Amino acid sequence: MTETLWPNTITFEEALADAASLTDSLLERLLVVPPDLEARVYEAMRYAVLAPGKRMRPFLVLTSARLFGVALRCAVQVAAAIEMVHAYSMVHDDLPAMDDSDLRRGRPTCHKEFDEATAVLAGDGLLTTAFEVLAHPDTHADPAVRCELVAALAAAAGAAGMVGGQMIDLIAEHRPLDIGAITRLQRMKTGALIAFSCESGAILAKAPTEARTALRGYAHDLGLAYQIADDLLDVEGSTAETGKPVGADAAAGKATFVSILGVERARSQAELLIGQAVAHLDLFGRRAELLREAARFVISRRT
Ligand code: IPE
Ligand code: IPE
Ligand code: MG
Ligand code: MG
Ligand code: MG
Repeated sequence: MTETLWPNTITFEEALADAASLTDSLLERLLVVPPDLEARVYEAMRYAVLAPGKRMRPFLVLTSARLFGVALRCAVQVAAAIEMVHAYSMVHDDLPAMDDSDLRRGRPTCHKEFDEATAVLAGDGLLTTAFEVLAHPDTHADPAVRCELVAALAAAAGAAGMVGGQMIDLIAEHRPLDIGAITRLQRMKTGALIAFSCESGAILAKAPTEARTALRGYAHDLGLAYQIADDLLDVEGSTAETGKPVGADAAAGKATFVSILGVERARSQAELLIGQAVAHLDLFGRRAELLREAARFVISRRT
């Protein structure tokens, strides 16, 4: 595997596609199906994580690592780990007890293709394997850096981050939340994993506080805009484009930016956030051009 990541001439689309193929090759190697009875859970894990998604979080990991010249073989380990945690969150999000969804990434959801118990276990397997990957010496030679990655991902994925956001999201189906509360829920359920993705490059590089703060600021706004865009696609998108059901949030009576502000104001809010996100990157100059393009993609995307 080459150690230098992407020439300056690379386009955002090319970089996103390359991030996907680098991450998927490693996931293939990390999740080899054993010739034993537990093979079924590996098959379900592979089914969920290797399905065709955008691989935005791996892209953010690799691109933030590239800012600091981090070795690709280290960064791709983190990219695989975050995609496993994201895929686990989707598998559990789709379960009948949560969003009860039949379609994900254009395919039957994990519990439809396998069964509910297997989907619960596949999610558990993806979550725990992600931490095994971060803790592996291949991720970084310095155990203190590996430890920091483990702690940061645990905080982002747990009850103070994604899991907590998912809890509030379920409550939002039965209780009217104001914009402040929805902002907090969305920063937790979606923003936290995106923030980890952006900060991980700085952790791998032991980058100075100033650079980390800038990336955190970028991610803070990008993550919220990412979920507003997802909520907009639930209203305005099509299953053919998104590979998942549309209209699910309104059907569940879920409070979102779109349900409270309406489509136009929700879109303006997302555009405002993207402007703010990009402003945090000034420190990095032209080196952060891919991150700027990623921010623009987040609100223009149809998938
Ligand atoms: C979907 O995430 C759920 C959210 C947190 C918004 P993505 O839109 O990144 O889904 P994939 O990975 O491309 O399938
Ligand atoms: C899920 O949000 C976000 C998670 C962190 C799991 P959604 O429920 O809106 O995601 P989709 O629309 O099913 O992908
Ligand atoms: Mg949900
Ligand atoms: Mg859902
Ligand atoms: Mg959604």
